[in-house]
Amino acid sequence: MLNITTKIFLSVIVIFFTFTLNANEISKERIHEVLQNAYNKYKGDMGGHNAKYIHALAVVDPTIFGITLVDKNGNIYEIGDTKKEVSIQSVSKVFTAALVMSEQGAKFVQNKIGVNATGAAFNSVIAIEEHGGSALNPFVNAGAIQTTSWVKAKDSKERWAKILANMSTFAGRHLQLNKDVYTSEVHDNKRNQAISMLLDAYERMGSDPLEATTVYTKQCSLNISAHDLAVMGATIANHGVNPVTKIRVLSSQYTPKIMAIMETAGLYDNAGDWLYDTGVPAKSGVGGGIVAIVPGEFGIGVVSPPLDKYGNSVRAQLAIKYIVKELGLNPLAH
Ligand code: DON
Repeated sequence: MLNITTKIFLSVIVIFFTFTLNANEISKERIHEVLQNAYNKYKGDMGGHNAKYIHALAVVDPTIFGITLVDKNGNIYEIGDTKKEVSIQSVSKVFTAALVMSEQGAKFVQNKIGVNATGAAFNSVIAIEEHGGSALNPFVNAGAIQTTSWVKAKDSKERWAKILANMSTFAGRHLQLNKDVYTSEVHDNKRNQAISMLLDAYERMGSDPLEATTVYTKQCSLNISAHDLAVMGATIANHGVNPVTKIRVLSSQYTPKIMAIMETAGLYDNAGDWLYDTGVPAKSGVGGGIVAIVPGEFGIGVVSPPLDKYGNSVRAQLAIKYIVKELGLNPLAH
């Protein structure tokens, strides 16, 4: 039996630690307040333009603006057009890279595709030539088409089914193809076809190059919302388990690898500035979505179609930067 002095001592310790832990936790009210402020602050920002090189993206409503944050316990905070859908575009590259990593291992992705920055635009052809046929990383178009080609499947139909199922499990719901975007992009993807043929000439492709480009184009044409992106990001933040459905999608050994590539190449040739300003791994898409991850804590999804010159959503970057700063989420500062 414990004597009274020991009991009092233990109680004081418990109270101290409970207080300390709670003091470090960000309150729900504060998260709601910061999201509301970010929305109000940037809703009227008219910077940037919708992507034009894919016709269907040019006509998407540029005023769509939604912000969602999902924590590791599956709590959801959101404001604005968080259920409005746009095509996922390059954000999809994160999840297909995760699939290939699961199937073939982290070394395969590093050796076969690469994990370094290109310092060039996301659809650069010259970057491939300058690096002896290497795409350099799975987030530029070349590396993403290559990644798609390496998903294990007997044919492109099965490859597409696996990619769709994987992304849907990350999102916790069955994602749908945006047929307008797909049809438009299939007509506007000559450059990607050329990239895939060039990589094939360097013997870097895992399956037929033009078929892989078509599957890649389909994966880019899936519809997602800010809400979906936040759940998908929170799954990586939560070491590979979707915090809403509680389903494991990715082994925890791979989440640091995926986030490392996001830090290096997620925002393309602006990735350095992004990391310097925020410290958070993130990935953008020309549909206007950005997913950002606070490792071990949160996924943040923002959708707003107008882009800067690098192909990254203007309002999404502003909102995420603001949220990270106001809530003290820069992982490099902890
Ligand atoms: O292949 C393309 O050009 C598009 N499907 C995706 C590019 C993209 O999203 C670049 N991201 N900012």
